[in-house]
This record gives sequence, C-alpha cells and structure tokens, in this order.
Amino acid sequence: MKHLIPEFDRMRRRYPAEATSSLVLPCLRRIQESRGYVADEDIAELTAYLGVHRIQIEEVLAHYTQFRRAPIGQWHLQACRNLSCSMRGAERVIEHLCHKLHVQPGQTTADGRYTLSTVECLGSCGTAPVLMLNDAYLENMDTAQLDALIEGLPT
Ligand code: FES
Repeated sequence: MKHLIPEFDRMRRRYPAEATSSLVLPCLRRIQESRGYVADEDIAELTAYLGVHRIQIEEVLAHYTQFRRAPIGQWHLQACRNLSCSMRGAERVIEHLCHKLHVQPGQTTADGRYTLSTVECLGSCGTAPVLMLNDAYLENMDTAQLDALIEGLPT
C-alpha cells in the first residue's frame, strides 16, 4: 500500500479533516485495483495512515461485496443471480460455467486462471442475464457466447 500514499495524500487534501473516515472507501478501492485484493497488511497500514479504528475498515470490507480479501484468478467472472437475470436463465449460465471450469461459485480454477463468483444485481437488469468479466459487462449472455468468449481469452 505504501506506493499509494502520495495518491492518498492528494485525496486527503480534498476532504475535511473531520471526515477522514470517508477516505476508507476510495483508499480500499485503490488498494484493490493495485494488488487485486485487500490484504491484512493493507488494513493495518490504512488504519495507521488514516488514524481510524480497524473496525471501520473491516465494516466497509464486509458491506461491499466487490472487495476481495484473497487473490483471485486472472479472469474473474461474476454472474448476477438476482431476479431479472434468474428469470432470463442465470442459473443455467452459472451451472454451465461451474461445469466448464470445474469450480463452484467462490472458487478459482486449479491453474489460477478463472474465478467464478455469483453476485446480486449488477444494475443492468434490462440486458439480463448479465455477468462481469473483470471490469467489463457481458450482457444478454448465453452459454454459447460465454464458451466463445472464454476460449478466446488471452493467456
Ligand atoms: S438482476 Fe441481474 S443485473 Fe439486475
């Protein structure tokens, strides 16, 4: 996290001194972008840097499911399983991915290439079923499209 301190310092100048805890969320976001997940040592360092209680950071990590506490695969597939996506075949898509990748939701393939997660609404219900591949939205997906996409991913 130390390499992010200059960036955090710049952010901090934009926040009132009494609102330091409001920096927890954007700092965690940058840590995850940098490392790929938020490690225990990041929490300790951010606690010291911001001067907040560790529980304030843990609460944010627990509330926002997009934060990861462990490394994930090179390609992170997040499949929405909420109502609109379910009505348009999300379960079939998720089951297909489990079978294809030999993982259950929440697991990473043995080669470290793919992580499959299920998530709640991704906010694009009109294009259900929806998944995310890393930061990209995949909309109106079916199993054939997913197969072609996965097979075309670079190593
Ligand atoms: S229910 Fe899947 S994106 Fe909203």
